[in-house]
Amino acid sequence: MADLNLRPKFHITGEKGWINDPNGLVIFNGEYHVFFQYYSQNIYWGPMHWGHAVSRDLTEWKHLPVALAPDEQDDGCFSGTAIVWQGKIWLMYTSFKENGGGENIRQLQALASSEDGVHFVKHGIVIGEKDLPAEYSPCDFRDPMIFEENGVLYCLVAARKVDGRGRMLLYSSEDMFKWNFVCDVFGRDSGGIMIECPDYLKDLGLITYCEQFQPAQGSKHLNIHSTFYRLGKLDLEKGKADFGESEIIDYGFDFYAAQSFADEPVMIGWLNMWDRNTPSDKYGFAGMLTVPRRLEIKNGELWQTPVINMRKVYEKKVGGKFSEKIKTGAVKITAEALREFNLLLRKKGDMYTGFCLKDGEWVFDRSRSGEAIKGKETDADSLAGIRRMPFANGNETQIIVVMDEFSVEIFADGKSLSSTVYPDCDADGFELEVKAENCKLQLFEI
Ligand code: FRU
Repeated sequence: MADLNLRPKFHITGEKGWINDPNGLVIFNGEYHVFFQYYSQNIYWGPMHWGHAVSRDLTEWKHLPVALAPDEQDDGCFSGTAIVWQGKIWLMYTSFKENGGGENIRQLQALASSEDGVHFVKHGIVIGEKDLPAEYSPCDFRDPMIFEENGVLYCLVAARKVDGRGRMLLYSSEDMFKWNFVCDVFGRDSGGIMIECPDYLKDLGLITYCEQFQPAQGSKHLNIHSTFYRLGKLDLEKGKADFGESEIIDYGFDFYAAQSFADEPVMIGWLNMWDRNTPSDKYGFAGMLTVPRRLEIKNGELWQTPVINMRKVYEKKVGGKFSEKIKTGAVKITAEALREFNLLLRKKGDMYTGFCLKDGEWVFDRSRSGEAIKGKETDADSLAGIRRMPFANGNETQIIVVMDEFSVEIFADGKSLSSTVYPDCDADGFELEVKAENCKLQLFEI
């Protein structure tokens, strides 16, 4: 009999029911607020609410009442953003109206605000159909993201031209209620059929967004939906974007719809993927969010470090074989001149999750992790439960492995690979075989 109370220890879930995207990450009165797409009544996606959790240390989360719910205005409250402005939290979200489906669907941007950070009042649609340039479709217009520069508010919204693919539109406002169209940011169609969940960190010169059904490039972006980043700048006065090539944010199976806090370069993603089964549904919940990751740009690339409040248990020098019993927590391994690395996690008999260095790249293997996860991907790696990530091959290698019930997130020299895994609840073997100079392992309790 499945233990219905089995939940991740430090990853945000909806406690019961379904969650997807993180929404409106914001710091208000000294607390981190995270909202998320939520349907408590079932383990499947349904009429979207905004769930709400708060934390002081980004590790221990307390759930607050649902912040936004469907009503006569909204059939669903889709993804969006939060900003603290004039002493209040403002949420802008996509008001979804079914209207019988197809061409009649409407996705328009609506506003809500709160003085206490707990109770929210809706203010109706503020970027509506009349604010959409003529050639764009009001059926696919969603996921607003607000930021402020020089006293002006700006908002990025994912959009699509009628008969076209994904676009990203920029609006500006002086008062939060009246928004003016500025430009189509990239000025061309996306590779995938639609863009979702744009985010812009102006201090880092970083834009992130998702593409649905984007074509894979070799062994890159094998998930049918991926989250990308590009480095560069939005010239707000000229309404022009100057960004480099798109790069993948996370190399694992389960990462989507990432967002960062308005005042801190810390990002959280959805630790799951569309179009897959979710074996945790037998425990009454589906979906969780990743651990928060601090973002930096190093040598022209995104560098992610997990932000978790944890206590060091011990530090050891390791060489050759190391084994321990670890089910949840974090392990940090630093090694010089790394030549071989073979790690088995959540091991119990033949059951394990693998992460190893093979032919000059990192290879993650969840083919023997436990309960099977099936998606729509049909490439050989996906069918074999494999994901790959570039190996930096520098003098020193740093690996952080974050393990919680149902997930493993691996950070190797700032690149991340996040996946869900569903092993037996008592699978706790941690076996490492390593060849390197000065290899050190630190174990942390969370
Ligand atoms: C991304 C997404 C968003 C949308 C939300 C609906 O995962 O499809 O584009 O607002 O989920 O729940």
